[in-house]
Amino acid sequence: MRVIAIANQKGGCGKTTTSINFAACLAHLGKRVLIVDLDPQGHSTCGLGIHAEKLSWTIYDLLKGGGHGRQTSWPEVLREISPNLYVTPSYSILSALEEELVYQPDCFKRLKHELEGESFSELKFHYVILDCPPNLGVLTFNALEAADEIFIPIEPSFFSLHGLGKISETVQAVNQRRPIPLELHALLTIFDSRTRFAREVYDEVKTHFKSRLFRAIIHESVLLKEAASAGESIVQYAMDSPPFRDYFNLAVEYLEREWNRLLPEEELGWENLLLNRYGPRRVIGGILFQIISKNARTVEIAGDFNHWIPESLVKRSEDGLWQKVIPIQRGSYRYKFIVDGEWQMDPEYPVQKQNDFGTYDSYLELV
Ligand SMILES: Nc1ncnc2c1ncn2[C@@H]1O[C@H](COP(=O)(O)OP(=O)(O)O)[C@@H](O)[C@H]1O
Ligand SMILES: [Mg+2]
Repeated sequence: MRVIAIANQKGGCGKTTTSINFAACLAHLGKRVLIVDLDPQGHSTCGLGIHAEKLSWTIYDLLKGGGHGRQTSWPEVLREISPNLYVTPSYSILSALEEELVYQPDCFKRLKHELEGESFSELKFHYVILDCPPNLGVLTFNALEAADEIFIPIEPSFFSLHGLGKISETVQAVNQRRPIPLELHALLTIFDSRTRFAREVYDEVKTHFKSRLFRAIIHESVLLKEAASAGESIVQYAMDSPPFRDYFNLAVEYLEREWNRLLPEEELGWENLLLNRYGPRRVIGGILFQIISKNARTVEIAGDFNHWIPESLVKRSEDGLWQKVIPIQRGSYRYKFIVDGEWQMDPEYPVQKQNDFGTYDSYLELV
């Protein structure tokens, strides 16, 4: 199980929208996911169509714990949104918790303690997404203590860059107390690529976070607002829309890293080439395309799935294994690799089809 805090003390940068839609895409990819709404404003609760005022139990009761009258457990607090996707709702009373806990020992470890309990592990979640409030108080610290990773959503504005130092300092302070540091990722949200300012912010954020910045970018789209008002994730509201693809790409990029972490070292050796295991293959999230090219400086792939606009593969080993997961499930696709600018067919996959120019493309049919 991985616990991911979506945190930034700045309001309106897309924490809640990312919590809901990233979680919904992971669930769509077959993972069991829980969103914990840690904001007393309860936006991810109502953004998923739950009316917390009608509930007997919320995250408040769970974090407040026993000895205060009402005691509860995870199964009572959880609400199922769709198969694989659950939420623990929040309500305005959660804001009282800050004061109630502040003098208690281990007040920052309440959530961590609850997530490590037996009643939680029985629920067998793969991912827990913590939607944090817009401040650095007790609730956000509970999230950072409980999390393995933090995603910092950044929307292009002057103030968002201004606040980045503060959240980075907080992460550093938390890391000093932890045996394993929080893994940090930045995500650009509410992005309007037509503006020069947005592109300047991109450059600045990229310089600051380097490979910690997700390649996936969440563009501005009114559909995300509409989905939240309808109480639905983008998976339910507008599958295959541009914002769905943005969040889906984020989920695939995230899982791709995890998948690579899980790949045993010995699978990366040259000898496997002989076993013809480097053709396209189905992995969680889509189809993994891969090619061996030891001396290449850049390798890209273009095909029907990306409108023939080349996308970079990632170099995975010094042996020259390049990989990229494309989020496709079914259909027929022509494609080619571009190695240092040279277009070529997939050397590991024998199926080819003639194109309109009289030459050949690699051709993949997924049923
Ligand atoms: N990619 C996006 N495009 C357009 N509007 C967005 C996008 N992401 C978030 N919003 C809107 O911006 C506002 C703030 O987003 P929200 O996710 O609630 O931020 P936070 O949780 O950080 O306060 C909401 O009205 C939300 O619908
Ligand atoms: Mg929010």
